[in-house]
Parts: sequence; structure tokens; C-alpha cells
Amino acid sequence: MTAIRRVLLTGARGQLGRALVAAVPDLGDATSTDLYAPDRRELDLTDLPQLRRTLRDFRPHWVINAAAYTAVDQAEQEPEQAFLVNAQAPRAMAEVLAAMDQPAGRLLQISTDFVFDGAQGTPYGPEQSARPLGVYGATKAEGEAAVLALLGSQQRVHVLRTSWVYAPWGRNFCLTMLRLLKQRAATGQTLNVVADQVGSPTSASGLAGACWRILELREQQHLPAILHWSDAGAASWYDFAVAIAERSLELGLLEQIPAVLPIPTSLYPTPAQRPSYSLLDCTETRRCLDLYPCHWRKALDTVLQQVQAAARM
Ligand SMILES: NC(=O)c1ccc[n+]([C@@H]2O[C@H](COP(=O)([O-])OP(=O)(O)OC[C@H]3O[C@@H](n4cnc5c(N)ncnc54)[C@H](OP(=O)(O)O)[C@@H]3O)[C@@H](O)[C@H]2O)c1
Repeated sequence: MTAIRRVLLTGARGQLGRALVAAVPDLGDATSTDLYAPDRRELDLTDLPQLRRTLRDFRPHWVINAAAYTAVDQAEQEPEQAFLVNAQAPRAMAEVLAAMDQPAGRLLQISTDFVFDGAQGTPYGPEQSARPLGVYGATKAEGEAAVLALLGSQQRVHVLRTSWVYAPWGRNFCLTMLRLLKQRAATGQTLNVVADQVGSPTSASGLAGACWRILELREQQHLPAILHWSDAGAASWYDFAVAIAERSLELGLLEQIPAVLPIPTSLYPTPAQRPSYSLLDCTETRRCLDLYPCHWRKALDTVLQQVQAAARM
């Protein structure tokens, strides 16, 4: 007999959401995944009564909460909206799941390196205390704390922190750089990129693989409540931009590239302060999942090839 695993995915049209939908695992005959992936029009997380109703009706074995208010700078002007989506909605999900026992649904809450302030200069371990610098990070940290408090003792929640997510689709640094590199090359201008913020670029498809792996493994064994996942290696935004430029030129995505120059954060002020060093220590998660990411340069190559293939279509 085939067991059905019901999975509710939020944020299905976002970078990670699209990668998750594209990679629903085939678990063979034993289990089939019934994925319900409503977009914002079908399930708006700011409508908490609707959110609660949807969970009670669908009775998920898992909720993957990949939806978030991710506009880091805009969040400084809209803290209530960011708080509603990033903290209150996950809390409501956890409350409904905690009260449900048939099935005893679990939550995979996606979170961010921006819950840390980046001041320690070494990678952050999963158990380190959050100390966010801006509204986005603060609301994500509140969401983490709420779901862990409600579901942690029943071991029905995992918070998966990640960093610098990008994909061939959506709004992200890689696609923004491609646009700016093209523009600047055409007008003979240089492109200045911040060189004193360091993190790990992470491809949405690798992250999606880690998410599905958590669901599969958790049904058989214990996993830590807080997990960290990013692609291997570290880079500044400047390093990442240079790699995007060079590889895009090689692939023929760009015909020419402008000079890319490193600048300090002080020359590119933004409404939200960002951590200067937000590497996540992923050692334990990789070991538990028995899953090892590729280096960010290799992942970038794959993403750029997908961008190229899409441009040809
Ligand atoms: N992007 C990064 O660099 C980064 C880094 C670290 C962690 N993360 C975390 O990773 C997760 C996935 O991020 P992502 O990069 O995939 O983000 P994304 O591309 O911005 O997607 C976010 C998704 O959330 C949806 N959403 C926003 N407000 C909503 C609401 N009120 N109701 C329903 N849906 C709503 C968006 O809907 P629309 O499609 O309608 O806009 C979108 O589909 C998030 O938890 C984020 O905090 C991201």
C-alpha cells in the first residue's frame, strides 16, 4: 500500500519555493508526496485566520515555510508587515500543528544568516544566540524562537538557516549583477561592489535538496532542531560579482564586461545594516544529512548555464 505524505509549501513562487517544486523526491512505491503549494493569492500569510483554516483542512504531515518578507531594506520602513509574515505567521502555523495529532505534523522553518550580527569573524554554530542588526533579521529570529518554543519539545520542528540564496529565477544578487554588468559595459562605466561583507552564496536548488533530505531522514531518525545549510566556500559580494562577470563572459552570456571595483560598505550605505561576516557552520548538518554541498563557484556555473539555456528558449 502506498503511504501518502501531505506537504504544505508556502512561498511556492519564490526562489526556494520554485526549486522545491522542481525537485519533489520520488520515494518509490512506498510513499507518495501530496504537495499543496499555494501562491500568495491563494494563501496570504498575513491573513492568519485563513492560514489556520488551511492547515486544519489540509492536515499536513509537513509544512515547509519558504515564504518570507525578504526585502531587507524595505523591512526597515515596514516593520509591522515583516513581523506579521516572518514571525506571526510561523507562530500561527506552529500553534495549529501543536494542537494536531492526526497526523502530528512537523514544520520546516527556513531562516537566515541575518539573525547574526557578523561581529565574531568566525562561522556561526547552530546553537549560538541570535543577535540581528536589522528588522528583517529580528523578525526572522522572532519566528525561529516562536516555532521552537511551540514545537521544539515535541521534536516537531526544524529551523534551517541559510545564506545569500540565488537561482536562475526571482530577485537575487546574481541576476541583478548580470543586468548591471551588461548596462555598465554598454555605457563604459565601472561597477563598484561591496568587498567587506563576507558570506556563502547558496544556490536555491542545492538548498531545496537539503530540505527534501530533512523530510526524508526525519521520518526515520532524530535530527537537531536547528540546522545550517549553505554552499561550500566563502566570498565577499565583490568576489561573487567578479566570478559572475568572468563566467558569464566565458559562457557568452555577456559580450563584454566592465571593470568591477571593490568598495567598502561605507561607500554603499543601505537602510538596513548587514552582517560583515555571516558564514554558517554547516559541519554538523552536513554530517547528519550525509549531504555535502558543492563549492559556490561550481553552483554558480550551473545557475549561469541555466540562465543561458532559458535565454536561448
Ligand atoms: N534570499 C536570500 O538571500 C535568503 C538568504 C537567507 C535566508 N533566506 C530565507 O530563505 C527563504 C526563502 O527565500 P527566497 O530567497 O526563496 O525568497 P523570495 O524569493 O523572496 O520568496 C519569498 C516568497 O514568499 C512569498 N511571500 C511573501 N509574503 C507573503 C505573504 N504575505 N503571503 C504568502 N506568501 C508570501 C513571496 O510571494 P510572491 O511570490 O507573491 O512575492 C515569495 O513567493 C526565506 O525564509 C528567507 O528568509 C533567503
